[in-house]
Amino acid sequence: MSKKYDALGIDIGGSGIKGAPVDLTKGAFAEDRLRIATPERSTPEAVCDVVEQVVDHFDVKKGVPVGITVPAAVTHGVVRTAANIDSAWIGTDAAALFADRLGREVHVVNDADAAGVAERYYGAAKGHDGVVVLTTLGTGIGTALLVDGHLVPNTELGHLEIDGHDAETRAADSAREREGLGVEEWAQRLQTYYSRLEALLWPDLFVVGGGVSKRASEFLPLLDLRTEIVPARLKNKAGIIGAARLAAKGN
Ligand code: BGC
Repeated sequence: MSKKYDALGIDIGGSGIKGAPVDLTKGAFAEDRLRIATPERSTPEAVCDVVEQVVDHFDVKKGVPVGITVPAAVTHGVVRTAANIDSAWIGTDAAALFADRLGREVHVVNDADAAGVAERYYGAAKGHDGVVVLTTLGTGIGTALLVDGHLVPNTELGHLEIDGHDAETRAADSAREREGLGVEEWAQRLQTYYSRLEALLWPDLFVVGGGVSKRASEFLPLLDLRTEIVPARLKNKAGIIGAARLAAKGN
């Protein structure tokens, strides 16, 4: 018999597609997550095959909300950008594609927006009113802007133009790796990036997510900002938890 879950979250990333049922009271997985490698050519159809396997793996009743992240701007279920995913996604009605295949409604959201919601409700920014900006430092830079707990979706501030460059090409974790930057050199780039963000938004709190947030104690102390800046807490669970929450409770 199917168990009664609050919601299911699925996080589509560059290397893995991960999903788990989520307990929305605790902000935690209700079962161990399942991870399947992202197909080499991550077209919408190929990704949809994997999403279907993830949903089938968990015995989730029809009617249980399903939230799915994509690393792109999404408006009304339609993917609008493709900075670090296959360009075939642009213009794809992902909500319709997944709903058709899965035979159930799904809620498709930007990956950083999902992480921001998770951190705001269950993690590093829990209960934090005012303006909270979450950034994910990974292959790209994702951003989520929350005002008194409400998400302003698709901010895409990783693509701010700074000194003639798309910011994520200079300050994302992938830029650090690609250019072999030491922590101090990379911190200088982060300094430039977060200074620009705080000059434009005057946030009350920055939350720094992405895989590299595990090593936040090495680079956050090197930054000199007027805004409080803290590492994310939910690590690689944030996308799944936030997608599930957005699907169940909306913004
Ligand atoms: C994309 C964003 C995404 C971020 C993190 C950026 O390149 O434009 O939509 O949130 O990468 O995956």
